[in-house]
Amino acid sequence: MDSLVAMKHFVSVEDLQAAQVRSLIARASFFKNGGTVPQFSEPVYASNLFFENSTRTHCSFEMAQRKLGIQTIPFDPSSSSVSKGESLYDTLLALNSLGIQLVVIRHSKVGYYRPLINPTEHQQLKMGIINAGDGNGQHPSQSLLDMMTIFEQFGSFAGLKIVIVGDLINSRVARSNMELLHSLGAALYFSGPSCWYSPEFDAYGQYLTLDEIISEMDVVMLLRVQHERHTDENGFSTADYYEHYGMTLKRYARLKDDAIIMHPGPVNRGVEFATELVEAPKSRFTAQMKNGVFMRMAMLEAVIRGRHLGGL
Ligand code: CP
Repeated sequence: MDSLVAMKHFVSVEDLQAAQVRSLIARASFFKNGGTVPQFSEPVYASNLFFENSTRTHCSFEMAQRKLGIQTIPFDPSSSSVSKGESLYDTLLALNSLGIQLVVIRHSKVGYYRPLINPTEHQQLKMGIINAGDGNGQHPSQSLLDMMTIFEQFGSFAGLKIVIVGDLINSRVARSNMELLHSLGAALYFSGPSCWYSPEFDAYGQYLTLDEIISEMDVVMLLRVQHERHTDENGFSTADYYEHYGMTLKRYARLKDDAIIMHPGPVNRGVEFATELVEAPKSRFTAQMKNGVFMRMAMLEAVIRGRHLGGL
C-alpha cells in the first residue's frame, strides 16, 4: 500500500507526483469499498465557500465531510458579509478566528488561492485551503475523481489514448486533466471548435477532428459548453456543435469495445451528449459523480494529516 498523502493545502494538480495520485486513488477506493475512516480524537471544523454555483462539487464535499466526521459550518456568500464588501482574505480570517481549520473554496478568480497559501509575515491566517475550482484555472477534485474513474476501467494510464473535446480554453477540468494525464503518460488528443483551442495545449497533445480519431480512443472526455464564460456567442449553434463534436449514436457505435465516455457535468443534453447516451453502458457520468465523494474524502484526509488536525 502506498503511504498516505499529507499536504498543507490542496489547490492544484500541477505539483502532484504519480505516487501521490496512485495513493489518493487507493485511499478513495478503500473508502468506496467500506474501509474504516480515520477516527479523530479532536473535532475538525470546516466550511465550504462557493462563490460560483455548484451541485456536484459542493454536495460531494459536504457528503465527504459527513462521512469523515468533520463538523461543517454552513457558509452562504450571498447572505454573508461579503455582500458588505468584506474581502476573501478577511472572510477567511474571520472564519479561522472562530475555529474553522479547513475551507473548500470555489471562486471565479484564477489563482485566488495564491495569496492565501503564501501569507505575508504580518498575516495570521492558518487554515487548509482546498480548491473546488478557480475560473478556468484548476479543478483538482474533478481531475482526481476522473483519474480514479479511468483507473477503475484500465488499471493504468501510460499509453492510454484520451481525447478531450469541446470548450477547452474555458475549462478548468480540461486544464487540470491535460496536466495530470500528460504527467501520467497518457497520449492526449484535443478536439472542438478552433476558437476554443489555444496553441498552449500543443505541449500536451494533438488537435484533430473527432471523427478522425474516435474509433482509436480509450477515453472520450466531453466538456460542458460554458455559456456563462463566453463574452460573444454570435454564431454559436448548438445543432452545429452537436453535429461536429457531440457524442451522437453514430459516434457511439464507432467506439472501441472497452472505451469509456466521461463528462464532468452538468451535461447540456443534446449538445455535448445524446440524451439517451448519458447513462449508456460506456458512459461513466454517474460513476464519476459517485467516485467524487470518495476522492474528496481522500483529499480532505490528506490536508487533515498535513496539518495534524483531529489528532492525526
Ligand atoms: N463538475 C462540476 O464541477 O460540477 P458542479 O459545477 O455541479 O460542481
